[in-house]
Amino acid sequence: MGSEVAALDQEELAKVSRLFEALDAAGRHALLGAAKHRQCSAGEVICREGEHGDEFYVVSTGQVRVTADDMGKERELAILGVGTFFGEIAMLSGQPRAATVTAIGEPVLIVFPFSAVRAVLQDHPKAREVLTRAGVQRAEETLQKMLAGS
Ligand code: CMP
Repeated sequence: MGSEVAALDQEELAKVSRLFEALDAAGRHALLGAAKHRQCSAGEVICREGEHGDEFYVVSTGQVRVTADDMGKERELAILGVGTFFGEIAMLSGQPRAATVTAIGEPVLIVFPFSAVRAVLQDHPKAREVLTRAGVQRAEETLQKMLAGS
């Protein structure tokens, strides 16, 4: 597990607020207050398919790799870069992680506890919709990739 570093600054707020365009100032403030930076080490597993999760993430610097088990073989689903979020599927569904996410190089993440994001989403249905759509689309893409095989 990486170390937690400084709180969010304005630049980071801009990244997050782009993601949560539907949030008002109070919503952004609530999220910011709950967020932490985390510096990951190269190859670190940030979350693992099938495990319980309790954090939602935004990539602040660098990249992460998303993979899933395809009948015993590791399949790459996506490379996510700066400003991209992940961890929304477990947060919205309450199910275990749908994929494994691994650090490429030494990315810095913005980490939000599920509880804080869920509380904000309760008051911001449009933001919930943004995350729900992303989660559904990703799950569909995963299915397509598995079906396509290689
Ligand atoms: P979650 O299941 O909470 O944890 C793993 C995350 O990987 C998942 O949420 C999504 O954010 C992300 N993810 C899963 N499948 C894909 C995909 N096909 N493309 C991009 N990201 C994905």
